[in-house]
Amino acid sequence: MNTKILSVGNLSTEEISYTEAVQLLHSGEVVAFPTETVYGLGAIATNEKAVAKIFEAKGRPQDNPLIVHIGSKDEISDFISHIPEKAQLCMDAFWPGPLTLILPLKETVLASNVSAGLDTVGVRMPNHPVALKLLRELKLPVAAPSANRSGKPSPTKARHVHKDLNGRIPAIIDGGATGMGLESTVLDCTSEIPTILRPGGVTKEMLEQVIGKVNETKLVDKSEAPRAPGMKYAHYAPNAPVYLIEASVQSIQEAIASIHKEDKKVALIATDQLKVVDANYYFSLGNNEQVKEAAHLLYEALRSCDDTDADIVLAPVFEKDGVGAAIMNRLEKAADGKWFFEK
Ligand code: TXA
Ligand code: MG
Repeated sequence: MNTKILSVGNLSTEEISYTEAVQLLHSGEVVAFPTETVYGLGAIATNEKAVAKIFEAKGRPQDNPLIVHIGSKDEISDFISHIPEKAQLCMDAFWPGPLTLILPLKETVLASNVSAGLDTVGVRMPNHPVALKLLRELKLPVAAPSANRSGKPSPTKARHVHKDLNGRIPAIIDGGATGMGLESTVLDCTSEIPTILRPGGVTKEMLEQVIGKVNETKLVDKSEAPRAPGMKYAHYAPNAPVYLIEASVQSIQEAIASIHKEDKKVALIATDQLKVVDANYYFSLGNNEQVKEAAHLLYEALRSCDDTDADIVLAPVFEKDGVGAAIMNRLEKAADGKWFFEK
């Protein structure tokens, strides 16, 4: 299969690109498209065979459910059986935006592989002009996980999608770099006190201002059954092992010296204040003051490690408040919880 790149940055080809994407989706195909978080790989959520192609192209485990994307809030009642009051408040405050709500599913409307057999489903209305235009032209819910091969960092540019899925999907809509750069916050709204299953751009602090107390799940122990099935899989990882390290120039220097002693090469992913020149490769996460910039750059930095011959990736940690919680959630998973110096 030839993977076509559909451009929407150019007025003369824009309409043709949308029409082509809509036709592909209607015909039961998958199409990658940009959202404000990361690129998604979409299929019409009522078409079981089309949804199966998402799992196949990504190499995604069948028990990991997908997020359904909608272009207008009223579509939700087509496939959600009941909208709790707190979920409604969140929709009013944060949609369109990077917040996925887990809600009770109406039976038999969506293809069963979307929710991997669960009686709930994740829904969000993305805040990106390309995603919204596509969804509004389709007028159907679109199931879309991140458009990476399973286990790899999510794509923040069309080029990343192409690298992972070239030849496996018919088309990618290229809408430039995504904004936020990390996946949406996933909030389980099926209990009285909602629970954050995955931290993201809509932070705990922001949610609590609107709906009061919210719980958080800890990074799951692999032996437990996780509440967000996706959380149990290795994730966001470059090929070389990633190690967390204290955010100090001195510990980074010590770590690099000991890695070099073993004749190994190191890639450092850090904010500019922590740039240590001895690192063989350095990928900037921007200025320390701007956590949002770090979120925006993180996945590209992790992916860039795969273009080097680094044996080890060092990742200094962030404070876990605000968007820092989302960054650390991804880094801890990329590192599988490993620290360079034992904690
Ligand atoms: O920003 C995003 O959310 C991106 C863009 C494309 O919208 N999508 C995305 O999807 O990150 P995905 O499939 O990579 O991550 C979805 C996460 C997984 O951890 C999955 O297990 C969890 O949400 N999830 C989906 N449905 C669920 C459900 N019914 N109950 C619990 N967790 C669910
Ligand atoms: Mg994903």
